[in-house]
Amino acid sequence: MRMYDLIYTKKTGGRLTPEQIAFWVKGVTGGSIPDEQTCALLMAICWRGMSTEETLALTLEMRDSGARMDLSSVPGLKVDKHSTGGVGDKTTLILGPIVAACGVPCAMFSGRGLGHTGGTIDKFSSVPGLRVELDAEAFRESLRRTGFANSAQTADICPADRKLYALRDVTATVESIPLITASIMSKKLAGGADALVLDVKCGSGAFMKTLEEGRALARSMVEVGKAHGMRIKALVTRMEEPLGWAIGNALEVMESVEILRGLHGDGVLARMSFRLAAEMVVLGGAAASLEAAEARVERAVADGSALRTLRDFVALNGGNPEALEDFRLLPQAGRVTEVRADRGGFIHALDGRALGILAMDLGAGRRFKEDRLDLGAGIRLHRGLGDPVRAGDILFSVHARPGLDVPAEAFTGAVDIRPEPAVPRPWLLDVIE
Ligand code: URA
Repeated sequence: MRMYDLIYTKKTGGRLTPEQIAFWVKGVTGGSIPDEQTCALLMAICWRGMSTEETLALTLEMRDSGARMDLSSVPGLKVDKHSTGGVGDKTTLILGPIVAACGVPCAMFSGRGLGHTGGTIDKFSSVPGLRVELDAEAFRESLRRTGFANSAQTADICPADRKLYALRDVTATVESIPLITASIMSKKLAGGADALVLDVKCGSGAFMKTLEEGRALARSMVEVGKAHGMRIKALVTRMEEPLGWAIGNALEVMESVEILRGLHGDGVLARMSFRLAAEMVVLGGAAASLEAAEARVERAVADGSALRTLRDFVALNGGNPEALEDFRLLPQAGRVTEVRADRGGFIHALDGRALGILAMDLGAGRRFKEDRLDLGAGIRLHRGLGDPVRAGDILFSVHARPGLDVPAEAFTGAVDIRPEPAVPRPWLLDVIE
């Protein structure tokens, strides 16, 4: 087999056989295929797409490029959630403990942030002492003892994806439905969960800009999951403004804890987290209907059992659970400054992507993989979509190290304030199953 023929076939709109896909992925993992040929094939896939059969074969080969997590010694159906990434998205920190408190083992591998979106692992890293890289036994132990396990993916899982993603990242080939599907689903299948709820984001702050693209990605991932016997469902959700009031690692831990304390219950972040949790509880077999699961989720927050689960998870894995009570024990930025509205009216838009980039510039995110984070840095939003504002009201608190100055106009430029009230927009756009 020659890599040249695979590239030529895809370039001219043909289909790759499972054997050809296996040849490519094995060659990527083993290092026998030069990067330039892989990059050419990736670009051809971006333009020409892949059939369902090709996407399935690619997912399987990537899954089998490394180790697989065996969770069979943990009783019950294990559930996972994946979000395609958004600014201020801390739903994992909220729903993981909730789902576990509802009696469903919640086993999640997460990533670090890159660019304008954050990563769950960075958020958890801001809890002093908490180990975010668990080996297989520690992961299973956390799942057995607290019902919740979250860890960075171990290096032996899906090495082909790591290699391919690094090449996609520098060749503008990330935005491809079959490539995203295979990348995400190979890792999820290798992670060992039985059921998966997907949160596919679409809008200006997401990979998928339109609802049609979001639906297509959701369908593609659901199809692949089902073909491998997973219980799977996808919510397509809007990603334009940041989720919740916090952008930045320690700030997002604080907001998650507040929600588990029962605060901000009618905000979009809480409603989205509770709905995703309820879907997971249904897929995990602990409730017969979505309504019953939603009631169960609300109880787990109201009776404090979800917050206790988070404390137990933190304590078991080396973290200081007191930091969840006393936020002064979490990393703090050296200085907090305020940005005020330059006019009055109603908030019609908050540019999540722009605010995510500003938070990254403050040290809350990474421009390059090697960048060190300032875990206390970030942005607190004082007003949300649709809220009324008067000139001079505080819009943002900017948490940064002293001396790092970003002009206020960079923040006010991310807010669209108009005289007329804004029309409410739903966060949930579609459900694919
Ligand atoms: N996240 C992934 O893990 N892979 C992609 O291709 C895109 C987002």
